Amino acid sequence: MNTALPEPTYDYKVVRQFALMTLVWGIVGMGMGVFIAAQLVWPAMNLDLPWTSFGRLRPLHTNLVIFAFGGSALFATSYYTVQRTCQARLYGGSLAAFTFWGWQALVVILLVTLPQGLTTTKEYAEVEFTGAVWMGIIWIAYAVVFFGTIMKRKTKHIYVGNWFFGAFIVVTAMLHIVNHMAIPVSWFKSYSVYSGATDAMVQWWYGHNAVGFFLTTGFLGMMYYFIPKQAGRPVYSYRLSIVHFWALITLYIWAGPHHLHYTALPDWAQSLGMVMSIILLAPSWGGMINGMMTLSGAWHKLRDDPILRFLVVSLAFYGMSTFEGPMMAIKTVNALSHYTDWTIGHVHAGALGWVAMITIGSLYHLIPRLYGRVQMHSVGLINAHFWLATIGTVLYIASMWVNGITQGLMWRAVNEDGTLTYSFVEALEASHPGFVVRMIGGIFFVTGMLLMAWNTWRTVRAGDARTTEVVPQAVAHG
Ligand code: HEM
Ligand code: HEM
Repeated sequence: MNTALPEPTYDYKVVRQFALMTLVWGIVGMGMGVFIAAQLVWPAMNLDLPWTSFGRLRPLHTNLVIFAFGGSALFATSYYTVQRTCQARLYGGSLAAFTFWGWQALVVILLVTLPQGLTTTKEYAEVEFTGAVWMGIIWIAYAVVFFGTIMKRKTKHIYVGNWFFGAFIVVTAMLHIVNHMAIPVSWFKSYSVYSGATDAMVQWWYGHNAVGFFLTTGFLGMMYYFIPKQAGRPVYSYRLSIVHFWALITLYIWAGPHHLHYTALPDWAQSLGMVMSIILLAPSWGGMINGMMTLSGAWHKLRDDPILRFLVVSLAFYGMSTFEGPMMAIKTVNALSHYTDWTIGHVHAGALGWVAMITIGSLYHLIPRLYGRVQMHSVGLINAHFWLATIGTVLYIASMWVNGITQGLMWRAVNEDGTLTYSFVEALEASHPGFVVRMIGGIFFVTGMLLMAWNTWRTVRAGDARTTEVVPQAVAHG
């Protein structure tokens, strides 16, 4: 039954704005990824300037892809999903517009401060105190808009996608505030209130849950809405989705110490992190299976629907990286993988294969609907994008596996007299071909993003936007 409100009742303007900025920041952030990948191939590309050096541009890359690209995608899809599934306009009037402009201002702060070396030095939390306070303010506004919309919903139950978005919003606020506790000494310099092993533990409690809640739970919210929609099937098991939710959020929060194996962190905490990480495999795969099985009876659609292919392949990469992660959390495996490119490969299996692919699939579903079009300008270009993204991701991951294992084995090789078999530079030389392949993989991925930008431009510009619904809205309430 189509009970959805007509389109003008929903606030789509802010969704459109965030969707378009997702594309812009995706291209800039991933372009920056290709640039730093090229620096590792040709160190001369550091240009002998401090603000273009690898050490300063690397955090700019991570912040742009996580917060500017990933963040904008999460704002766009959560604002869309919460309105559709609650059948209510966004709560708070212009507060949603404030979150859009405020978030873009935050990205500008990142673009200006990080290349200057103004950083807390905490990974993924590099933004200095003033920027962090600004980010906190926007996040609270986001929470008010999101939960306010849930409160005024016209539907009886809260759709499971919103549970995931809600947990992502609440936990991100908690992580951000606790990890950024600092004493400011000037506008852009502050000192953490934590020190030593405590500081490290708080940071990796944050870091791991940034992955777990920002890069996973939020995107699972996206999965629970856009896969059923695109497949035209209800979620495979609503019951499994509830078990998935509670198990995932209960377990993720304990796994942070796997980033600190063999450090000054107490041994029991490291072992706890390891065990919790292994258990985490179960809910992760439960969620993946729920998403995949949603296609039961609709598998044939994969043949000619490249959007659905993006969504399903993203789940395959999610399954792969959440199998690899628990393995890497085992202390003896981590002894080989830590500090090597294996970690970088794992990161991008999640980041490109899962986060970027599910975002791209969701945006291809979303953009025509936001602009009242029947479909994207060119389905052929979506198909080309799919192959560029898939091949790019595979090149990236495979090269980093080879590099990581090579590095790990070369670093630990010892001669009979106990001296090291290889110098560090020899391991670096052995890594060079892998760096080249990773850069090529990155170029593939960014080329796909450029095709998407062109396709979006043509879709948006094609004639006047219709104001009424295009597609029946019955499937989301699985
Ligand atoms: C064209 C696509 C991309 C390319 C070429 C690329 C390249 C790179 C490179 C060269 C590094 C530094 C590796 C090192 O220090 O050895 C890096 C780090 C990182 N990238 Fe990307 N990247 C891309 C896309 C993404 C996306 C979409 C995300 C997230 C959604 C992401 C998240 C990260 C993270 C979290 C790190 C830090 C990893 C760590 O510290 O272990 N990247 N990337
Ligand atoms: C069950 C799920 C997962 C587990 C147990 C897990 C476990 C791990 C482990 C053990 C490491 C290496 C830590 C080290 O040696 O320093 C790691 C690194 C990382 N993982 Fe995962 N992972 C999981 C899923 C994911 C997913 C889905 C993503 C991305 C969306 C992701 C992103 C990252 C990032 C960014 C790092 C690098 C952190 C850093 O050192 O900067 N992980 N993960």
